[in-house]
This record gives sequence, C-alpha cells and structure tokens, in this order.
Amino acid sequence: MTKICCIGAGYVGGPTCAVIAYKCPNVQVTIVDLNQARIDAWNSGNLPIYEPGLDEVVFACRGKNLFFSTEVDKAIVEADLIFVSVNTPTKKSGIGAGFAADLAYVESATRRIAQVATSSKIVIEKSTVPCRTAESMRTILEANSHDGIRFDILSNPEFLAEGTAVPDLMKPDRVLIGSLQTPEGIKAQQALAAVYANWVPKEKIITMNLWSSELSKLAANALLAQRISSINALSAICEATGADVDEVAYACGLDTRIGPKFLKASVGFGGSCFQKDILNLVYLSESLHLPEVAAYWKQVVDMNEYQKSRFSQRIVKRLFNTITNKNITVFGFAFKKNTGDTRESAAITLVNYFLQERANISIYDPKVDDDQIRADITELAPVEAFEKQIKVVHDPYQAAKGADAIVVLTEWDEFKTLNYEQIYAGMNKPAFIFDGRLILDSKKLRDIGFQVEVIGKTL
Ligand code: UDX
Ligand code: ADP
Repeated sequence: MTKICCIGAGYVGGPTCAVIAYKCPNVQVTIVDLNQARIDAWNSGNLPIYEPGLDEVVFACRGKNLFFSTEVDKAIVEADLIFVSVNTPTKKSGIGAGFAADLAYVESATRRIAQVATSSKIVIEKSTVPCRTAESMRTILEANSHDGIRFDILSNPEFLAEGTAVPDLMKPDRVLIGSLQTPEGIKAQQALAAVYANWVPKEKIITMNLWSSELSKLAANALLAQRISSINALSAICEATGADVDEVAYACGLDTRIGPKFLKASVGFGGSCFQKDILNLVYLSESLHLPEVAAYWKQVVDMNEYQKSRFSQRIVKRLFNTITNKNITVFGFAFKKNTGDTRESAAITLVNYFLQERANISIYDPKVDDDQIRADITELAPVEAFEKQIKVVHDPYQAAKGADAIVVLTEWDEFKTLNYEQIYAGMNKPAFIFDGRLILDSKKLRDIGFQVEVIGKTL
C-alpha cells in the first residue's frame, strides 16, 4: 500500500489529500499539521474549512485510509510520498518585503523531512512558491540527509479554486508534475502520475521540467487575475460613458479566442493566491533584471487596488460626500462566495476605509466566523473599533436595520433572493444599495425605492 503524508492541513493540503484518499482506496493518506486546533477540527464533525462537498469526501474515508494528526515525524517516517502544503505568505519585512514569498514554513518542513526520514522519499512541492524553490528544497534535503537516503523533488502545483475545490480536484483541467529530467526524476514523476491516474484521464496528466511547472502556476494565476483587472479597468470607462460592463464582457466573451470566464467585473479580486503570485512574479522579474516585465505585471495589482478605492470613493460621494456617523451595512466578507476564507478579501480594505471615514458598520456574511472578521479588521484598525463602530450580525435583515446604505462585497447567492421590500422598510431614507458584485436586480430595487449604484454601470 502506498503511503502519502501531507504536511499542512490548510485550504490546499486538506481538500487535495482528502480527495486523493477518496479516489485511491489503496493509498493511505495522513495529513499532518503543527496546529492542534486545526487537526482536532479535521477530526470532528465540524471541519475547519467550508468547501461544498468536502464533508462527504472526508467522512467517507476518515479513519479508513485518511488520517489527520499532529504527529508530523511519524507520518514522514512512514510515507513514500510527502506533499508539502504549508503556507507561503508574502514577506512582511526584510528583503523583498511586500513582494517575495516567505519560505520559512517550506524550509522548516523540508528540514524536518531531512532530519527524520529513515528511507528514500519523493517530496512534492504543493504550496504556491516562487520558481526555483524546488532547487532550494533539494539542496536542504541533500545537505541534511543520512547516508543512502534519496530524495526526489517534484513540483505539483495546485489549481483548485476555493468554493469549488472538490469538483476542481475530482475533474481537474490538468495535473502538472514537474521534475528534473534525470532517470530518477522521471521515475518519481511516474510514481506520482500513477496516483492521479486512479481518477484523472492520462492525457490530462502533464509532465514537464521543474522550472516550467513552477512558473506555470504563477503564470496561470497572473493571467486569470489580469483578465479581472482588465475588465475592472473597462468598468471605470463604462461608468464614465454609460456603457454597461456586463454587456461589454458578454460581447467580448463570445469571441472563442477570448472566452467568457473570469470577465466578471467586481470590487476587486481577493484570495490567497492572485495577489501573492503576481507579486512573486514581479519580484522574480526584478531579480532577473527585467524591469519592464515587472512593471507590466505589477499594474494588475495596482488596478485591483484602484478598483477598491474607486468604489469606496463612489460610495462616499453618493452619500452626500460624507459617511461620518452613517450606518453602512456590508453584505459579504469572504473573498468570494461559497468559502469562509477572507484572505486578501476586498471587504477588509473597504471596511477599513469606512472606519477611517468614521462610519458605523454592520457586517453580515453567511460563512465567515466573527473571530475571523475581528482578526482581519484589527490587523489594520484599533481593537476599540469593535466597541464603537463595528458590529458583526448573523441575520441580513437585522444587519440592514437602520442602515443608510448596503454595500454588497461578496457574490453570495442568498443576497439575490432576500426580501428587499422588508429591508427597504427598515432603512433610513434615501436608502442606498451599492452592488460591488453585479448580482442584484437593479431595476427591481429601484422600483422598491432604493438608490442603486452598480460597478461598471450608470443605470
Ligand atoms: C485562484 C485560481 O482560480 C486557482 O486556479 C488557484 O489554484 C488559486 O487561485 P481562488 O483564489 O480560490 O483560486 O478563487 P478564484 O475563483 O480564482 O477567485 C479569485 C478572486 O477573483 C475572487 O475574489 C473572485 O471573486 C474574483 N473574481 C473571479 C472576479 O472578480 N471576477 C471574475 O470574473 C472571477
Ligand atoms: P494554504 O492556503 O496554502 O493551504 P493554510 O494557511 O490554509 O495555507 O495552511 C497551511 C498549514 O500549514 C497551516 O495549517 C500551518 O499550521 C501548517 N504548517 C506550516 N508549517 C508547518 C510545518 N512545518 N509542519 C506542519 N504544518 C505546518
């Protein structure tokens, strides 16, 4: 029986390795993490991350061929293949601060593997990392390993999107496996390909060299984010001219060379990957002395920041140029629908902006925990803000009671079907709705009496 260990029980490692266990009854999967609370949650009825379909997958194989544990060393010793799925946040200080990835967690997990392994292993880089991380991992493993033990490093980037992680993993567009093109590297590549071949058609399992695989991950995310920044740039032109950004996106998307996906204008992209990966690409380009390339990709992030500030300013302007002491209700705090994840969510930036303008804010999100909202906001603002200016409310109708404006920041389906007549009745007048996700029926809302403002539209 093949044994797999996954280091890091987060948004990537958890769902990815749970699906491997689900699809490969002959593989024993142990997912380990240093965080006891997270592992306890994975072993409970209330999993630590919300992802449609994940409960079914985990509950079907947990205790059979899927295990969650904090015994990192034991899982390393027993495994044939080790996925490294630890976090790689953007560095906050030191060289490359604000751009480069902090590889401290990857390094520490790699050192642990070298220290405790008593037999040869295939080590798989699964976290999103800058190009050449595999090379550093290899150097660390080789310098620290005991005699006679071989480590083969593979890059196997993750392409799952949160909110659709389970279907993305069950039916991936492609699986990328990069390795050194040596006989041993190719053999390791085949061993991992054989695991995926349990459910992924062979033609979708692509093998290539390590650098191509690592760069492909950054490139795919940069290209996707670039489409969103492009449509968001056009949304500003739409607002200035009277064009409708949904119509423009539809018209462009019908061209099969362009395609319809990732052309939805919004208040700005969030999530743990897009910004981080582009900034990695910018940093890489600069390190390679390619300043024009760096500036080109940096603009995708700059446009995203511009979109958030442009929308915030539009809100203040429409609310008679001041929101001081006004009641703003925020619908949605997650960075997209169907996830409780808030990393880099546009809502964090906007709520902080409203706070600076001294508004009273009530926040409703169907899936994000109060603690998470509090942690995200207090990273930027003083804790006292919660006593004075911010409320987290668990019912959308309560959240909107007495509000001057509702601001929709996440595209949760339930926001489309709320009883807006009831909401309107309880709000201060004139009652405003700012749709940062283009999901509401503006005509219907205007008929009720709302003042409606939508990104990329004037009517
Ligand atoms: C992304 C990639 O899609 C995935 O392949 C990669 O592995 C990780 O990064 P994720 O960040 O989970 O996945 O979600 P995604 O669906 O890509 O959305 C990212 C952000 O872009 C969200 O804030 C979303 O609301 C926004 N978005 C997406 C838009 O504003 N408009 C769109 O048309 C699509
Ligand atoms: P991602 O979105 O990349 O999956 P997360 O932050 O959700 O990122 O998950 C990464 C997980 O990796 C965290 O739960 C963290 O505790 C864990 N982790 C980080 N370093 C180590 C390590 N050396 N050994 C085990 N787990 C680790």
